[in-house]
Amino acid sequence: MEKVLTLPDSHAAPLSIRAKALVFHDPGSLALLSHVERIARSDATVLVIGETGTGKELIARHIHTTSGRKGPFVAVNCGAFSETLIDAELFGHESGAFTGASQARAGWFEAANGGTLFLDEIGDLPLALQVKLLRVLQERQVVRLGSRRGIALDVRLVAATNIDLARAVEAQHFRADLYYRLSVAGVRLPPLRERPADILPLARHFILGYQSRLGMDQVQLSPASQAALLSYSWPGNIRELENVIHFALIVCRDEVIEVEDLKLVPLSRSSASPAQPVAPSAPAALAEVAPVEPAIDAGATPLDSLVSAWRELLASGQTDLFDKTESALIHAAYDFCHQNQVRTARVLGITRNMLRTHLKRHGLLGVQDDEPIPAHEPTEIPDLA
Ligand SMILES: Nc1ncnc2c1ncn2[C@@H]1O[C@H](COP(=O)(O)OP(=O)(O)OP(=O)(O)O)[C@@H](O)[C@H]1O
Ligand SMILES: [Mg+2]
Repeated sequence: MEKVLTLPDSHAAPLSIRAKALVFHDPGSLALLSHVERIARSDATVLVIGETGTGKELIARHIHTTSGRKGPFVAVNCGAFSETLIDAELFGHESGAFTGASQARAGWFEAANGGTLFLDEIGDLPLALQVKLLRVLQERQVVRLGSRRGIALDVRLVAATNIDLARAVEAQHFRADLYYRLSVAGVRLPPLRERPADILPLARHFILGYQSRLGMDQVQLSPASQAALLSYSWPGNIRELENVIHFALIVCRDEVIEVEDLKLVPLSRSSASPAQPVAPSAPAALAEVAPVEPAIDAGATPLDSLVSAWRELLASGQTDLFDKTESALIHAAYDFCHQNQVRTARVLGITRNMLRTHLKRHGLLGVQDDEPIPAHEPTEIPDLA
């Protein structure tokens, strides 16, 4: 039996959620789905655990949809804010609560009232805020920064993590009491390699999704490519499978995906340090006087040169180009601006919060570097209700 659940309002979902449907075929996945749907109807706090790309956010959205709650689904990434800012973001603040707080503002908890608050990367929540979160869950009310008055709430919390929270508790990075509170109803999403019967149905699902966008019809997987998909270990899980299929559709011929169209990258290669330069290895000084291939067209703009470098890398089989390009860009801009966050954010045309998320992701900002951001920067609430 296969289950395909159409996601409501998928057009309104943020870019990170491109899926139009959830596909479950493996007996293990189907059992998990019925477990999820059973707990969805209660008000229990849910902790979704799984490796990157296993579908944690999609499952959180499905829990919200199945719960019948009328309010919005609000997703917040706990790793995207500094400690001071996330306090105000989650719990709200009164005017004058801190420098720059000129107006009172409701936090994400209040925004999710009547619905579901999804706290992604809960393991990144600073310890001081873990205490506060526990209090909110116990008392079912939130107290804005700078206020003493509690505001009663009806919010269902779903949290997600791709780190081992039990270990984080042992290492004293995560509070045991909050961990127990969150894991009342735990959902462990197995990695794709542990649910092999999902691989081909998902691959076909992604083929269907992309073939029409690419103006193709009835693309097939050759028997050998099916075998290759089934025997690969999928370190990036379903997200990686989606990317592999998308790329295969671009390069395949005669509407048949062959093994050589599948760029399956063993983990050791894909996990190479993203800070590595992407150009072929040549001593830096030499490269300056005699640029290595591909030669740069004299009339080309720097962006044209980048595009041709990307083409070359794609043709050479790179599949983690997005991460590498992003990392190289963030490193270059931060260096160019002499590690000044405000200037770096400005030259990249992004908010300082977004920059800090990227700096953390690419290892340029540690937790100890986290100092408060004085001005309150706008953030978006993805309201899918
Ligand atoms: N059951 C599924 N059916 C169809 N597509 C899925 C399914 N699960 C995940 N996906 C696809 O995988 C992508 C990743 O899913 P999602 O963002 O929910 O993963 P995640 O576990 O939250 O990842 P991360 O830890 O990196 O944030 C989605 O954009 C979607 O395309
Ligand atoms: Mg996620």
